Parts: sequence; structure tokens; C-alpha cells
Amino acid sequence: MSAKILDGTSIASDIRREVASEVKAMAAAGVRPGLAVVLVGHNPASEVYVRGKVKACEEVGIYSEQHAPSEDISTAVLLELIHDLNRRDEIDGILIQLPLPPQVDSKKVLFAVDPAKDVDGFHPVNVGFLSTQRPGLVPCTPAGVIEILRRSQIVIAGQEAVVVGRSDIVGKPAAMLLINASATVTVCHSKTHDLSGVCRRADILIAAIGRAGMIRRDFVKPGATVIDVGMNQVTSPNEFERLFAGNAKREQTFRSKGSTLAGDVHPEVAEVAGALTPVPGGVGPLTIAMLMSNTVKAARMRRGDRVRELSSK
Ligand code: GUN
Repeated sequence: MSAKILDGTSIASDIRREVASEVKAMAAAGVRPGLAVVLVGHNPASEVYVRGKVKACEEVGIYSEQHAPSEDISTAVLLELIHDLNRRDEIDGILIQLPLPPQVDSKKVLFAVDPAKDVDGFHPVNVGFLSTQRPGLVPCTPAGVIEILRRSQIVIAGQEAVVVGRSDIVGKPAAMLLINASATVTVCHSKTHDLSGVCRRADILIAAIGRAGMIRRDFVKPGATVIDVGMNQVTSPNEFERLFAGNAKREQTFRSKGSTLAGDVHPEVAEVAGALTPVPGGVGPLTIAMLMSNTVKAARMRRGDRVRELSSK
């Protein structure tokens, strides 16, 4: 048996098309959603992500602007920037790219973002809305996981879902979304006893640990749906062999670039799972698509009355 590969790139492009047509309709009402992206310093991975986010805005017609304070910025100065973005009416979404440098109080900074503009869904107000099933902004990666399941016609209600990883950005909100969709949810972490045994109960297994190829064949119930949220750069030849031995295409990338992107799920899982998201090309593209969707949602929520008013003229 070989798992059905769930094509995140194609699902993300459907969502981006839908967002683009919504942005067009809003333009007819005189409204253009706007996103401010704040990237502190020069973390190479963050720079790649931010470029992708800004490019996606251009493609769907969202106004975007980038703020790039230097690596040594203080919490106080960063807070001033956020307060300014909170006040500006043409900015609907504010995204602070993580991680922030160590001298910055990240929690203080994230809490300073107006919850109505918090397109990452990290503010405690939005966390509270999610946990009480009220309308709000939901973190992009977990929201993308649910979109992949829904758009691939994978039933969630009544299913056993196991989330491996309890981060505030992915594991916890993913668990909450799955509960809200009526799954029976277990959250595992580094202290979980018999991790493989717990994972083997899952009809839907979400891997969000941040360790390349940790989910092996014996963690997966035959036929289960496996969603791989991992994005791990593999640079060691031994690690490469453990994961991709015999994969000629991967070998070529690894040789030419000196690294390759691996998920948290070992490739051998494809022989057991019923459906599986690839890395790259699975959950990753959904994160940006959901950011676009959240920015439009924030614009609608903030300017809902104005959008309706203008469209009825
Ligand atoms: N860094 C890694 N993932 C994320 C994310 O989802 N949002 C932000 N703002 N930064 C990140």
C-alpha cells in the first residue's frame, strides 16, 4: 500500500485564488486590505519566509509593507512601531516574524498587537476566542492543517486525532481546532509515555515536533491520515542516509545545496499511511495562503460596516 499524497501546493493555490477574488470584490467597495510585516534583523530563514509573504500579498492584491528594524532594537522601540501600526487605519494585519532577538521581550511584543489586526492569531484574546469557538483570527499553520483535511474530504468528526507537539504556534491551536471539529484529541510531547503506542491509535496524526523523521512506520495505524508540519533542514550526511537513502532526486539536491528540507515524518510512513502530506509541498504552502485569508478576514471584521455600506451604494 502507498499513501495518497495530499498536495498542499494545489490546495494553497485554490485558497489564494479565492482570496484574490474576495480582494477584488472589496476593491469594488473601495477597500484594500493591508498587511504590515515586521522582520527584525537578518535571520536567513525568516528572510525567506517574509519574502514569500510579501510576494503572496502582491499576487492576491493585498497592500503590504515591510519594516526591518535592526537586530539590536529594544523592546520599547519595537513597541512604538507596533503602536503606530495599530493606529493606522489602512493596516488590517500585523505580522511580527519570529524568532525575535534575545534582548526583545517577545511575549510583550506579541501582546501589544491589536487583537483585531493579529493575523498570526498569537494574542491571548484570539487564543481565548479559538478555545471558546468565537469568531477571531486563528494561527495560520494549524488553520492550514484543517483546510488540507477538509478539502481532501477527510472526516474529522468522531475520529481519533493525535497531535505530537504542544507549541503555542502549532500543537495547541491544532488540538483546539480538532476539538472544535469534534475529533477525539490527544496531545503528546517529550514526556509522553509510549509515544508510538499513543500515535498508533490515531486516525489523524499531526506531527509538529521539529525533529526530522521522528515519526516512523510503527507510529502509524495502517490507513491513517498523517499531516507533517515539520520543516527541518538536514545537513548531516548520516541523517540524510537515515531518511533518504536510495532517493536519487533528494540526493541530487543534497549534493548541490549541502542540505535538504525534511519533515517530522520518516518517508517509510508512506508505505503504511492512507494519506500523507509531503515536505516540501504539504502544510508549508498553506501557512502563507492562510495568512492571506486571515488578512482579508481581519479587514472584513474591522471594516465590515464600511464594506457593506460601500457595496450597497
Ligand atoms: N516563524 C515561524 N513560524 C512563524 C509563524 O507562523 N508566524 C510568525 N510570525 N513567525 C513565524
